[in-house]
Amino acid sequence: MRQFHALKIAAKRHETRDSVRLALDVPDELQETFQFLPGQHLPIRVERNGTELRRTYSICSRPGEFPLEIGVRVQPGGRFSEFADKELEAGDTIEVMPPFGQFHADIDADAQKSYLGFAAGSGITPILSIMSTILEREPNSRFALFYGNRRQVTTMFIDDLYALKNRYPDRVQLQFVFSREDQEFPIAAGRLDGDKVREVYDAMCRGTQPSEAFVCGPDSMIEDVTAALVELGMDEGSVHSERFGVPRQSSAPDVADTASGAATITVIMDGHKKSFDMADSDPNIVDAAAEHGIELPYSCKGGVCATCRCHVREGEVAMATNYGLEPWEVEKGYVLACQSRPLSAAVTLDYDKA
Ligand code: FES
Repeated sequence: MRQFHALKIAAKRHETRDSVRLALDVPDELQETFQFLPGQHLPIRVERNGTELRRTYSICSRPGEFPLEIGVRVQPGGRFSEFADKELEAGDTIEVMPPFGQFHADIDADAQKSYLGFAAGSGITPILSIMSTILEREPNSRFALFYGNRRQVTTMFIDDLYALKNRYPDRVQLQFVFSREDQEFPIAAGRLDGDKVREVYDAMCRGTQPSEAFVCGPDSMIEDVTAALVELGMDEGSVHSERFGVPRQSSAPDVADTASGAATITVIMDGHKKSFDMADSDPNIVDAAAEHGIELPYSCKGGVCATCRCHVREGEVAMATNYGLEPWEVEKGYVLACQSRPLSAAVTLDYDKA
């Protein structure tokens, strides 16, 4: 059920001076609900001074292990992250939706794969979960991580990564890249752009055939890394990515603006059906539903997190932007409700279809 549950903060500690790690207690009766695949994230909701804040944070711990852990980079002026940094304490409660998201690794104990990870800044959070789970549960697979940061002192999870390297010395390659610090070796200096990917690939992956790559960071980094990996011979379908932050504005026309907007919308959730009439003036289906007292899942409302993902069972909608769905999902009829307006007079959205 995609609804919020109150979870208690079991522990809080500063990862770096500008990031915190929160451990969330999951009571026994909710542990089944909070099972996850490595790489998935948690939609979070808190109330601050009468305003509701929603954010999405990736899980950095391994599936099956409780408490669940997330990493929060503290952004200057970031309302949730500053609240997490300065005010949230162990024992406090926050509202959390069950884990979600298509960016994940499928673990196969018999696999003998060679994985690559590319993370920029707090993009390490889901990749740490993926990497540590693969190393623990695929004993014949290897993982090479390339991790870009401005400086070592702001590098999240550095101790966890060295611990993995120490524990699995023959199966882990670790290359940090710093953009604002002098480095003894040129390979460790700069940003994770296309040239750097070619450089580290040449130096560390020569003679291997990477099976899959996981990439997490800002929009431009994902585009650069993916393009370079494809150029180096990887199949695009083997390069999985998750972006954070606000993507670059697309110059594509805003198709949702051309949709009429007026329609009867039916939503199916947890086996129940509800309908409402959406007006031409409603900006998107999530907001229109809220006008009628129907709470649909959402977090970023920016087309990124995919918390609002659902399947169009009947009718047609147009999305304004989509940074959260893979091409195959769009082809199969999944949409982001926070970005959608109807194109047909009746639309049925199924939130139960996985
Ligand atoms: S709520 Fe994040 S993509 Fe719709």
